[in-house]
Amino acid sequence: MTYRRSRSYSDGFTFTETNKAKAQSILNRYPEGKGASALMPILDLAQRQNGGWISKDVIAYVSTYLSLPEIRVLEVASFYSQFHLKPVGTYHIQVCGTPPCWLCGSQDLMKVCQQWLGIKPGDRTADGKFSLQEVECLGACTKAPVIQINDQYHEKLNKEKLIAILEALSEGKKVSPGGSHA
Ligand code: FES
Repeated sequence: MTYRRSRSYSDGFTFTETNKAKAQSILNRYPEGKGASALMPILDLAQRQNGGWISKDVIAYVSTYLSLPEIRVLEVASFYSQFHLKPVGTYHIQVCGTPPCWLCGSQDLMKVCQQWLGIKPGDRTADGKFSLQEVECLGACTKAPVIQINDQYHEKLNKEKLIAILEALSEGKKVSPGGSHA
């Protein structure tokens, strides 16, 4: 069923010219009329442009862009932990809490994050620098315990390595995947 919004594209969000081209290139991967299958990569592109989160305007825009009901866009955006329905920090920390990581000490890592950042899962620090989330398996169980910070994985972590990462990020230093920092 084709969904028609009562108004055209949302006033608050529109793809940049660069992202319009990227979105078209994503759509080209799918057969004609199957653009709905591109929902996740299109949402990801929109989230990245929107500072890391999916606002109502993004939902509205993607809904119209793909001719999908807003509820279908919202269903996907609210189901997957890769999408965020409220603003996240400059560094969004996702701690894996699934059993392989849990058995290897992920709860200790979560405690370190909470104590060091002074926030609970789902929150963002007052300066907007960090946000924290517990997630299900990140798909790197053999390197447990694992956390993800933005697009980077940090594997086989312990408290000391995690604190070093948090200190480095708070000081504006770059952190490499795996936990070492320059
Ligand atoms: Fe943590 Fe799979 S259980 S990465």
